[in-house]
Amino acid sequence: MHDLLIYNATIVNYDGLFIGDVLVDDGVITKIGVNLPDSAKRIIDGTGKYLLPGAIDAHTHMEMPFGGTTSNDTYATGSEKGLDGGVTSFIDYAVQRKGESIIEAVNKRRKLVEQEKAPGSVYFHCAITDLNNDKLFDEFPLLKAHGINSIKCYMVYRHEGMMMGLDDIKAILPIAKRNNIMVNIHAEDVDMLETNIDKFKEEGKTKPCYHYLSRDEEVEYSADKKLIELSKELDCPLYIVHLANKKGLELVRKAKKEHIKVYAETCPQYLAFNKDVYYQDDAYKYVCSPAIKNQDSQDELWKGICDGTIDVVATDHCPFKLEEKLWGKDDFTKIPNGCGGIAYLYRYMLSEAVKRKIPFTKIVSLLSYNPSIIFNINNKGLIKEGYDADLVLYNINDNFLVEKSKEDDTNIYEGMTFIGNLKVISYKKR
Ligand code: URP
Ligand code: ZN
Repeated sequence: MHDLLIYNATIVNYDGLFIGDVLVDDGVITKIGVNLPDSAKRIIDGTGKYLLPGAIDAHTHMEMPFGGTTSNDTYATGSEKGLDGGVTSFIDYAVQRKGESIIEAVNKRRKLVEQEKAPGSVYFHCAITDLNNDKLFDEFPLLKAHGINSIKCYMVYRHEGMMMGLDDIKAILPIAKRNNIMVNIHAEDVDMLETNIDKFKEEGKTKPCYHYLSRDEEVEYSADKKLIELSKELDCPLYIVHLANKKGLELVRKAKKEHIKVYAETCPQYLAFNKDVYYQDDAYKYVCSPAIKNQDSQDELWKGICDGTIDVVATDHCPFKLEEKLWGKDDFTKIPNGCGGIAYLYRYMLSEAVKRKIPFTKIVSLLSYNPSIIFNINNKGLIKEGYDADLVLYNINDNFLVEKSKEDDTNIYEGMTFIGNLKVISYKKR
């Protein structure tokens, strides 16, 4: 007797879809076919529904000390929200403290995941903040063996002690390449940004809209340009996180055509909103970095999704409480940067796919298959025999309203209705 049978569902993978049945035992897909024997402890009729691989949110910040506080989800609550929204795995950023080893930084966070009994699968990138007089490089050959496939460099947050300069990144890229470690980069031009902030503050311009105006399209583009030139010069791959501007995306598109290995991620907040949110009364809720850009950028991001320039859509999930966001209602530099979204990633993208006539195969590549390949997440990202049964059933004939919630009082998706609804029917924790 098998554990689970889903029959007659439209099974979606990045490379195609077909109507069939799936058998699951011990959290693993044991058989895919048609008219499989219906001897299972649990049987689900998938008729008229889509069976999708669980999403892997490649960019989260759970309980991250940042902005004078700590982001408002633990690994447990973040993972529960993810599971509610079809995100069965996420890759969180462990931030290296000064002098700390990468492996230590990640293991500390892994311990938290264990203590909190986060229900879903949690993986880690490490955001490095201190090369420790280059001693940190000695650790790079060990990272893979410790399950660390990617690191991150922030080109901003100088005063927070998190920044890596362009020269640091130049030193990191070849060593990371040699050790098969992906380098993720938060790309904004720190000099332009700090000049803008100083100028606006001097002029007494401190409303939340100056968050956007100080880190506008040009600030992000300038950093993208430097990075792509570096990737080309050094022949090293890199992954630009949360790309949000039109000209940067055009550069990535051009670079890909020239076979430069630049990967691009964007986030739902850049696809769903434009800079106008920063002129609303509740503008502080939308303060995240990079800032949400103009409509031209949003349109270009959707184009980039359709033509393959964007590789991954992830959330940058980093929610803060309303009372914390309000610290900066009269001084944009005091607003903790970040928005939540892990519960809505899959629902939003599928709903937009229906509206924009984007194939579900594309959504599954952006949210599940591509992150599994880029970040070496084994046994996930595909509905395939031998793979983990991280399975989501999507019913296009339903809908989902994002309700107001006391705990989530800065939810930027509140009040939206998504086409279709989904449910995780099985997952395997790793
Ligand atoms: O606004 C954001 N993205 N907050 C989290 C910190 C970061 O920039 O990654
Ligand atoms: Zn982030």
